[in-house]
Amino acid sequence: MWSSVVVVPAALLAGVLLCLAAPAAAAARPATLSVLSFGAAADGVTDDAEALVAAWRAACRVPRATVLLPSGHRFLVSPVTLQGPCSTRLTLQVDGTLLAPPDMDSWPRSRRPLQWLNFKWLNGFTVQGAGTVDGQSITSLHDSSSPANAPQHWHSSGAKPTLVRFYGSFNVTVRNIRISNSPQCHLKFDSSGGIKVKNVTISSPGDSPNTDGIHLQNTRDVEIRSSSIGCGDDCVSIQTGCSNVHMKYIICNPGHGISVGGLGKDNSLACVSDVVAENINVQNALYGVRIKTWQGGVGSVRNVTFANVRVANVATPIAIDQFYCDRGGARCANRTGAVAITGVAYRRVAGTYSFQPVRLACSDARPCTGVSMVDVRLSPAASAPAGTVAPLCWNSYGEASGTIEPLGAGCLQRSNGYAMPLTQPSNYTC
Ligand SMILES: *[C@@H]1O[C@H](CO)[C@@H](O)[C@H](O)[C@H]1NC(C)=O
Ligand SMILES: *[C@@H]1O[C@H](CO)[C@@H](O)[C@H](O)[C@H]1NC(C)=O
Ligand SMILES: *[C@@H]1O[C@H](CO)[C@@H](O)[C@H](O)[C@H]1NC(C)=O
Ligand SMILES: *[C@@H]1O[C@H](CO)[C@@H](O)[C@H](O)[C@H]1NC(C)=O
Repeated sequence: MWSSVVVVPAALLAGVLLCLAAPAAAAARPATLSVLSFGAAADGVTDDAEALVAAWRAACRVPRATVLLPSGHRFLVSPVTLQGPCSTRLTLQVDGTLLAPPDMDSWPRSRRPLQWLNFKWLNGFTVQGAGTVDGQSITSLHDSSSPANAPQHWHSSGAKPTLVRFYGSFNVTVRNIRISNSPQCHLKFDSSGGIKVKNVTISSPGDSPNTDGIHLQNTRDVEIRSSSIGCGDDCVSIQTGCSNVHMKYIICNPGHGISVGGLGKDNSLACVSDVVAENINVQNALYGVRIKTWQGGVGSVRNVTFANVRVANVATPIAIDQFYCDRGGARCANRTGAVAITGVAYRRVAGTYSFQPVRLACSDARPCTGVSMVDVRLSPAASAPAGTVAPLCWNSYGEASGTIEPLGAGCLQRSNGYAMPLTQPSNYTC
């Protein structure tokens, strides 16, 4: 074990020794490096980024080390990159409160970071603890101190920071922590794999614009489970390059529900496959489970299953929108290309809706195929405004079985006795 300590720079040894100078019986225990030993002020006001980075650098060289943010303390940290490669099984233990600079999203563009905590090139890493990661962004549409906060304003204001982002990282676990009040997306994984998110609580106001809960991009082999997500945008957002994504026992309240896409923006290639969301509870949301693609894209969405989904007061519980257009009022021109959607199952989706129970709006050029519904039971919410809208199936092929309510929700078309062919010629393959 001493050999693992000699690689730590002398200036940092004090911190390591503090934790290791325990009785001999503790000698085999892996190192715990508290940021307090690296000069953190821990007053919630002074910038502790340097202390965090110093503790990180020291821990990074020691196998199975833990960087500790102790409970009962508040650590304000300016935007940092915590990068590897590090020795295996590094842990960041967040027991205290980690605070982002409160005004981060109003920094001038040139200084505004794309993300606040940027984890990069890690392999075998865990973030855990009973603590909170707080973005301190309280922006909401009703924030009277910023009258310009219309949705349009935020769409055009360019990138606001993502709170916690993993890039190029594998075998990463995030568990037990609470992540709140992000200026934008709360937890993002990009170009990563082998991801586990468990028992995490994410919370932001329902009217805070673009605050996705968990955002996945170019990331494979993901399990998100036993977590509670409330935010102002998608609860979980699955973007291009994602495959083998499992979500289970997730509560989304409030927000825009679980979403694959928007895919294919600006005629881009999009590939998403093998997604399962089961035992999902969506409440007070715009959508329940949704797939959205822009017109003109190429590629495909394949093999997506939504099972055991409970909805309560959700505007549109089941949605496929291949005419997705997020251009703040401007209409998107109709185009002939589309990201193909094939093999989507809805099994046991039940609860209440406030606008339209089912809306499957598939492309004229590439209809949705292999869509199946089994036991879908949706009824108007008591809070539903005056009118609800009848279910829609546009260019949607597949089969409905079991109990389908309301009548017409299983409005899928059959073709050749069953469905359109699952594959159509395309210049692009995923
Ligand atoms: C989930 O996280 C909370 C908050 O950190 C913790 O108190 C609880 O013990 C965790 N539950 C499990 C099953 O780990
Ligand atoms: C992730 O962990 C698994 C099993 O622990 C291991 O087989 C795999 O090689 C690891 N992935 C990477 C990219 O290191
Ligand atoms: C569909 O995706 C799930 C989840 O990854 C996977 O278990 C299953 O084997 C896939 N089915 C097909 C036919 O590829
Ligand atoms: C695009 O096509 C859809 C379906 O055919 C139609 O409802 C919509 O009005 C069209 N939009 C425009 C902008 O032409």
